[in-house]
Amino acid sequence: MDKLIITGGVPLAGEVRISGAKNAALPILASTLLADEPITVGNIPHLHDITTTMELLGRMGVGLVVDERMNITVDPSPITDFYAPYELVKTMRASILVLGPLLTRFGRASVSLPGGCAIGSRPVNLHLAGLEKMGAEVAVENGFIHATAKKLKGTRLVMDLTTVTGTENLMMAATLADGSTIIENAAREPEVVDLAHCLNAMGADVNGAGTDTITVHGVERLSGTHYNVLPDRIESGTYLVAAAITGGKVRIKDTNPDMLEAILEKLDEAGVDVGVGPNWVSVDASIRRPRAVNIRTAPYPAFPTDMQAQFTALNVVSEGTGTISETVFENRFMHVHELRRMGADVQLEGNTAVTRGVNNLTAAPVMATDLRASASLVLAGLVAEGDSVVDRIYHIDRGYECIEEKLAQLGARIRRVPG
Ligand code: EPU
Repeated sequence: MDKLIITGGVPLAGEVRISGAKNAALPILASTLLADEPITVGNIPHLHDITTTMELLGRMGVGLVVDERMNITVDPSPITDFYAPYELVKTMRASILVLGPLLTRFGRASVSLPGGCAIGSRPVNLHLAGLEKMGAEVAVENGFIHATAKKLKGTRLVMDLTTVTGTENLMMAATLADGSTIIENAAREPEVVDLAHCLNAMGADVNGAGTDTITVHGVERLSGTHYNVLPDRIESGTYLVAAAITGGKVRIKDTNPDMLEAILEKLDEAGVDVGVGPNWVSVDASIRRPRAVNIRTAPYPAFPTDMQAQFTALNVVSEGTGTISETVFENRFMHVHELRRMGADVQLEGNTAVTRGVNNLTAAPVMATDLRASASLVLAGLVAEGDSVVDRIYHIDRGYECIEEKLAQLGARIRRVPG
């Protein structure tokens, strides 16, 4: 297993390009199953989860062509299998996103039921309940979801809680259903909006994405298009925190500041200078040490759970005491135990981490447990005294494109060693 070795202490400086968003690319690639013509998806990040999605589509018999710029052309017409096997679903829960498209387009789907994961139990009951309400027969047997439907029927779906992939699955299922579907208490994440834009480019009739009520009028068929995925707001936020934590000065480009509001607000509260342009954000933390902030994660537009671990790392070296409450997932504090091994003063009280800023962290061998936890350990390594070794970085490769190259480009002393 590869490891990252990071020698802390360099304030980051320079400019870095933000990649396409993983959490938009995954549903958009799944949505290609809805069309009866090839779809080309651009600005796809080079990530392990993308490779897994391509393998998943490939095993169904779908045609795939990737060019040198990571434009992926998907031709769903040769599909032969309507099946997502356990060995792929267990490595990537987002495989569940093929359920809605397969069912509505081909009338059947068998998808391995995702298990719990490092950050929580993460059930998919709301995906299934929504599809059943649209007329699907759903059975869970031997660890698989088997769903069938002659033709899904539009209906009103009131979601018990906001779920991102749940909203996406139901929105995709509704595009080819009979009549209109209204999804109430829908997730408002920019990635949901990006998927809706892609679906509409394919000929769907989706309205209200970005609000908590999405209306989808079913259409007969969806056709080919070329669609570019939006920039990754979590990668954006992670590089901004990297600048802040190292006392650096960094500009991220090819991003969209409009979807970073909650993150930029917290950086501003931390006393970091934030500048914003049409497609860039800059952070200057070279003048003063950041102050600890209080954070409560919640669905968009509130502060994202996917940035919680990174801000925990920032808080532990910032001035004063801060509290970080996690309300989306029940077990998303694995990084806290590793940060403590680097000298952080952080206590867990229920779903809240209370941080007391220390002047320095010290390097230690640490282990990544999930994608965003690994990012926070890399951030801590950038300021720790000595050589930190971050193990199990396959988690990072699932969601951060070329992280060591991008950080090295900003001056970080970081290298990957094969394990
Ligand atoms: N939930 C249920 N039942 C359901 C669905 C969700 O109880 O049927 C619960 C979950 O257990 C959780 C809450 O609802 O407590 C919200 O989960 P959600 O369904 O919104 O999460 P997700 O769709 O599985 C996506 C992202 C995650 C991100 C969350 C929250 C993708 C592929 N994944 O997951 O991204 O943390 O939304 O914003 O879009 C990551 O990129 O590191 C990552 C984990």
